Amino acid sequence: MIARAIILAAALLFPWHGIAAADATTFVLRDNCPPSFEKTDTGICQLRTLYDFYDSVQGAGLGGTQTALPAHRDGFTPEQIDLGRYLFFDPVLSGDGSIACASCHSPQQGFSDGLPRSKGMAGREVARAAPTLWNTAFLNKFFWDARATTLEDQAVGPLFDPDEMDNTPQRLLDSLNAIPAYQAMFRQAFPAREEEGIALDQVYLALAAFQTSLISLNSRYDRYAHGYHAALSEQEVEGLNIFRSFVARCAECHTPPLFTNQQIAVIGAPEPDGLPLDVGAQITYGAPELKAGFKVPTLRNIVQTAPYMHSGKFDNLHQVAEFYNGGRGHAVPQGVDLHLHWHISSPNLTEYELARLVDFLGTLTDESLTPEVPLQLPSGLAPAGNTIQSHTAKTKTTSGDAS
Ligand code: HEC
Ligand code: HEC
Repeated sequence: MIARAIILAAALLFPWHGIAAADATTFVLRDNCPPSFEKTDTGICQLRTLYDFYDSVQGAGLGGTQTALPAHRDGFTPEQIDLGRYLFFDPVLSGDGSIACASCHSPQQGFSDGLPRSKGMAGREVARAAPTLWNTAFLNKFFWDARATTLEDQAVGPLFDPDEMDNTPQRLLDSLNAIPAYQAMFRQAFPAREEEGIALDQVYLALAAFQTSLISLNSRYDRYAHGYHAALSEQEVEGLNIFRSFVARCAECHTPPLFTNQQIAVIGAPEPDGLPLDVGAQITYGAPELKAGFKVPTLRNIVQTAPYMHSGKFDNLHQVAEFYNGGRGHAVPQGVDLHLHWHISSPNLTEYELARLVDFLGTLTDESLTPEVPLQLPSGLAPAGNTIQSHTAKTKTTSGDAS
């Protein structure tokens, strides 16, 4: 509050001063839609992509390279999306003002955090890795074990989990309602609301609106899919063909264009040393046959989000490819009985073919629509997501080399 009062005073005393002048307009929400979205006559943002030109197979967006995308969420106003952007980066959402959504989902790290398992409040390690948030607009299940079905329900998890953001609903509302700039922004984003004060469902909706604007569909792979064949090298095309082959079967689960079919699959990936077996979706569905089943993750921007798998077992994509090549069930602990998915096979790929698979995964990178991290926040706290975390020095060097 004090910092903000000083800045406002500075703006009055020194209206010509660049920083102070910028501050005066910082908290006016944008009224234009993010790139790739078109504003309709009714003032909402609708996604437009080249995939709209293709037919959909069974409405599910599954099939070859030129297939429509599955159903998605859009239709938020520009103001709701922009409000969500401020909230997403603002540590005021956590119990002690130290952690924001962006602390674990940083735009600098593919909207993940570079850690095998995320660290929440006071550095406490949580059970699983932070998934990317690119293209969440298309998902109908959230979390590795699919325990939430909407982005709004999902947000409740990290906000009030003592190991993550450790807030309470009342404390969250109290701190937001105490900030006049947020009050004004919520009124701008929800003009029809009559009740006084900020409500929780508005916080969830704005966060959802922002997350559905994280669209990544313009990678070199996409340009190739739309018919520009020079977008991929010969080796990358070889990799794509292996990926889609009935030998490797990757595309059966990581189905283009999203590179996930959004189903639960038991693939038998190992846990990191010393960690117990994570039963995953078995609990969500109460189904023993889904023991150690996880939601098939997207592979979009996959080179940005090492380490890999639900608990960060693998440091790089070569190790992941070797896992799939190691033989069906080879990493399942002795005495554990898993119902492995029938598309998990023993493809016997050569070293050359594994390297081409990894080449191909590198063509799925597109961060051109990365939103701006706000320079300042209504809370006066420093925006999260500007620092790079790394679990080992080795990984840091690798990702440094790649960029
Ligand atoms: C402490 C780190 C941390 C913070 C803070 C955090 N997340 Fe996450 N997020 C994770 C982890 C870890 C998972 C996976 C948990 C699981 O599957 O059990 C996850 C999962 C998700 C998912 C599901 C993605 C998918 O593909 O299933 C979404 C969406 C998400 N987080 C959004 C948010 C939002 C919005 C916030 C802020 C309100 C937030 N996260 C705060 C670590 C974090
Ligand atoms: C039967 C469905 C299925 C098939 C076939 C399959 N995957 Fe997966 N993939 C999954 C699931 C489920 C996970 C998450 C498993 C976990 O975390 O334990 C996963 C995880 C991954 C990850 C890590 C993603 C991340 O964000 O951490 C990569 C990379 C990957 N798969 C690549 C491939 C490649 C390459 C192939 C082909 C050789 C392949 N997959 C075949 C279902 C499948």
